[in-house]
Amino acid sequence: MKTNLSKRIISIIMCFCLFGLAGCVNNTPVDTDADSTTPSSSSTTTTTTTTTTTTTTTTTTTTTTTTTTTAKKEEEESTSKSTQKSTTTTTRRTQDENPNHEKLVALTFDDGPYSPVTEKILDTLQKNGAKATFFVVGDRVDRYQSTVKRASNLGCEIASHTWSHKNLTKLTAAEIANEINKSTDKITSVTGKSVTLVRPPEGAVNDKVKKNVQYPLIMWSVDSLDWKNRNTQKNYDAVVNSVFDGCIILMHDLYPQTAEAVAKFVPDLMAKGYKFVTVTELMEARGVTLQNGKKYSQARP
Ligand code: NI
Repeated sequence: MKTNLSKRIISIIMCFCLFGLAGCVNNTPVDTDADSTTPSSSSTTTTTTTTTTTTTTTTTTTTTTTTTTTAKKEEEESTSKSTQKSTTTTTRRTQDENPNHEKLVALTFDDGPYSPVTEKILDTLQKNGAKATFFVVGDRVDRYQSTVKRASNLGCEIASHTWSHKNLTKLTAAEIANEINKSTDKITSVTGKSVTLVRPPEGAVNDKVKKNVQYPLIMWSVDSLDWKNRNTQKNYDAVVNSVFDGCIILMHDLYPQTAEAVAKFVPDLMAKGYKFVTVTELMEARGVTLQNGKKYSQARP
């Protein structure tokens, strides 16, 4: 009787070993199978067999875990390989399309127009063959119409910073629509060009704003803090120390020190190979398709 029991135990162990091995070789999701079959088979066997089953199950689970880990590693490796591949392709494509491998920068101005400052910025841009994007406040446009027209004629982009610079997150859907539509209509009436970009005042965006602003939301990646600095050298340093290929720089065409800093860093950065383009030009050059209600703050190569 004892001998028979031992034989049965040995044969059951062998059986489970083979089962585990088969699972390992096939790379099948053994854990699911083992979990669902174990309780039913152990219920019909003796106490001794149950112990054996438990041991075997543990072994199988361990094997499965190892397999999963290996699979994850392979997945990670393949992800990193594909990332490397796409980076190489992007770099090559950029170099092919742009033999000089130009470094692009989108300089942007909020809260204007304000002719005493905006005109000085336009002088610098014109002198250097540079462009910028002006996110104007709609209710200021009539007062400084000629400046807005000049900027537009120089190839600068005129975009919306709403009608009256209200925090859009605190408005109703109808009020948001009014703030945007009134400003874009005003800009178009002056420039003859349609508006394609919006910068929300204070950069304030929530789901309601995303849903109700039917334009791409343009943020920034380099903050000059010119409104706070009111200092030409500090403004200059803030831009020059943080600039990168594909960045969007935030400034405000309300302060004389802002115009003075622009007059200095535009030629300096151009000498270092940077080209000043509009936000739309930057996105197009980098193959970014802008979508309404989505935020954008840069477009790296
Ligand atoms: Ni603003």
